[in-house]
Amino acid sequence: MEPIKVEHPLLEHKLAILRNKETGTKEFRELISEITLFLCYEAMKDAKTYEVEVETPITKTKAHMINEDDYIFVPILRAGTGMIDGIVKMIPNAKIGHIGLYRDEETVKPVRYYYKMPKGIDKKKIIVIDPMLATGGSGIDAITLLKEDGAKDIKFLSIIAAPEGLKKISEAHPDVQVYCAAIDEGLNSASYIVPGLGDAGDRIFGTK
Ligand code: PRP
Ligand code: URA
Repeated sequence: MEPIKVEHPLLEHKLAILRNKETGTKEFRELISEITLFLCYEAMKDAKTYEVEVETPITKTKAHMINEDDYIFVPILRAGTGMIDGIVKMIPNAKIGHIGLYRDEETVKPVRYYYKMPKGIDKKKIIVIDPMLATGGSGIDAITLLKEDGAKDIKFLSIIAAPEGLKKISEAHPDVQVYCAAIDEGLNSASYIVPGLGDAGDRIFGTK
């Protein structure tokens, strides 16, 4: 499936500040959260609504709501957890699963260390969140784990994606729609996204 690149001048503006190496931890976290709002908004465009009756100060009217319980958001640790804040601003009752993966610095292959999901993932809409899609290894592995556990309806939100990772993920999981805010030039010899924003986890958590 072709990725959906979310386009908006405000998103461009926020990405410009996010990429800047001078942007500090506080602002970096806030931007990750704000950009996630845009991605979540787009990825939930097809959400089902049900009718409710509400009483405004003026009159009774029919309105529409979504069932927040239909969704499970799954950050890939660590950097994906930086996006939870943006998700829960939109969906305060969001159920959150966690998948712990890190890229081995030498092999660049994802190493699994944690997996915990809410109940009933086979019946829910799963939205995996990770700010960076580089080689695609972590995303592919996370989706494979979720499918092995019964997940059938999966979307993937990333802030910056590399063409190499997008190609790999669409080959490995053609049923998964990827949403991103930017598609960059490619990967460098250390498999970092160019121009990218550096190491998302380190910038969110201030570990370097
Ligand atoms: C980063 C990022 C993705 C992964 C992307 O995590 O958050 O999970 O790399 O790279 P890939 O597409 O080549 O797999 P990292 O492994 O640095 O771990 P961290 O979030 O704990 O910093
Ligand atoms: N992980 C990151 O945090 N940044 C990259 O550029 C690639 C993988």
